[in-house]
Amino acid sequence: MTRPAPAVAARGPRVLRGGVLSVTRSPAPAARVLPQTLLAGVQAAEQGPRGFLAPPPPPLQGRPLSLLALRPPLLQGAMSSPPPPPAGLVQKLFGYIDHHQDEFVQTLKEWVAIESDSVRPVPRLRRELLRMTALAAAALRRLGARVDLVDVGSQQLPDGQTLPMPPVILAELGDEPRKPTVCFYGHLDVQPAAQADGWLTAPFQLTEVDGKLYGRGATDNKGPVLAWIHAVSAFRALEEDLPVNVKFVLEGMEEAGSVGLEDLVRREKDGFFARVDCIVISDNLWLSQRPALVYGTRGNSYFTVEVRCRDQDFHSGTFGGILHEPMADLVALLGSLTDASGRILVPGIYDHVAPVTEEERELHAAADLDLAEFRRSAQVERFLFDTKTKPPASGPLCERQHCRLSAAVSPPPVAQVTKYLTEKFAELHSPNKCKVYLNHGGKPWVSDFNHPHYLAGRRALKTVFGVEPDLTREGGSIPVTLTFQEATGKNVMLLPMGSADDGAHSQNEKLNRYNYIEGTKMMAAYLHEVSQLKD
Ligand code: BES
Ligand code: MN
Repeated sequence: MTRPAPAVAARGPRVLRGGVLSVTRSPAPAARVLPQTLLAGVQAAEQGPRGFLAPPPPPLQGRPLSLLALRPPLLQGAMSSPPPPPAGLVQKLFGYIDHHQDEFVQTLKEWVAIESDSVRPVPRLRRELLRMTALAAAALRRLGARVDLVDVGSQQLPDGQTLPMPPVILAELGDEPRKPTVCFYGHLDVQPAAQADGWLTAPFQLTEVDGKLYGRGATDNKGPVLAWIHAVSAFRALEEDLPVNVKFVLEGMEEAGSVGLEDLVRREKDGFFARVDCIVISDNLWLSQRPALVYGTRGNSYFTVEVRCRDQDFHSGTFGGILHEPMADLVALLGSLTDASGRILVPGIYDHVAPVTEEERELHAAADLDLAEFRRSAQVERFLFDTKTKPPASGPLCERQHCRLSAAVSPPPVAQVTKYLTEKFAELHSPNKCKVYLNHGGKPWVSDFNHPHYLAGRRALKTVFGVEPDLTREGGSIPVTLTFQEATGKNVMLLPMGSADDGAHSQNEKLNRYNYIEGTKMMAAYLHEVSQLKD
């Protein structure tokens, strides 16, 4: 049948510090995807350590070498004789975390129960975001933190509508000049979710199956935010001196592009952020079963392409065959964006894409990623490339009826994309109306992983998981990361705790109980390790 008149849209291309476009087709309809998703989950559970009583994952066999070992100057001096970990303190903290894990899961359940969706701009959901912000602020106050709720104004939508935004939480715990100050950033908002999309459990009711905690936001990003709070709470509950000052930045608009946050960070450069020594973010995933430290994000440019005929459906029998179908126009436009190998056809895009260096290729080649297994778990027969380094720009990627273009060059290539699609539309000689606009962009970011801060992360991972981490660059993006780095001049590190198959943004998003609890330990160990770094 003929589709409704206003044909839809395309959402944000993604690029790694410049950008190629790669195309991924929409997944199969939910009804067909689901049994496979479940099957994949069960298989993973059989293969990996999942139950919370299970031991940490064993070091993987046959891994060529640690990524850090590739780079001789890297942290070498400091790494050769690490000080012995304070076994007593660490053991006490870990014991506390193990003992309280059911409480931690219960709190996550309360957080997941709030539908804090920032993507759909409707007043009901904005109220949920306010509830979520209040809940997080209360948890921080219980820790003893001083909490400020900072108004970041209203969101201006492309259709002219204005909607209020939740305040940003700026909180601080401790202000002792002799201690380093760690700043943690995380987000309280989530992607939309509805059971009808193909969830096997109610998305806003955290449900544990075989050691997996299913629920929207479990891994992205409520679980990790709570893990930080719980890691700090472990020190306090045991009446142990917190070895660092901690600052929290928690926002509720990340999934909508961190609206308002960038200005706030720049404004507070000499205020809230003045004494910050390093920034840590846990809003991404491991690449495989092996824990990872992450030194880059890809960035993206999120465009909408709209083709409009009339505001009502047509009967396919009456109108089929005589109409310039808006969906056909849209398909032609999306199809013009890349060639069959995924190369972006918009002129000028690659002028802004930094090439992948040889050094990075080596680093990625050593990463503990089994491509065949990755393909299998993604339920994809073949990828465009057979390498661990993917092109630094890609798009569009379809998620059901929406299609995210990805050309994450910075600044977003608005003029190039608009001109190109306008010309392509003109070639169709269609009487329909076509509109192209940028929703928002996320800037690419890359960090100095030779910085001692990464050493603290590495040691914390080693203490908890007993293995060297992968050192990776992330395909997802976190818009404000570069802003933190630029505004403070301090080192930023991504310290993920979620597993590669968590399904952020997807149906049946989950966080393994194992990752949640061991990740909390990792964060507690990290706070200790940061305090051990020499200036
Ligand atoms: N947590 C994600 C980023 C991410 C996704 C990292 C998957 C690792 C794997 C973050 O919340 C996110 O979704 N970011 C958006 C940014 C956009 C809204 C500007 C993204 O990557 O599309
Ligand atoms: Mn996300």
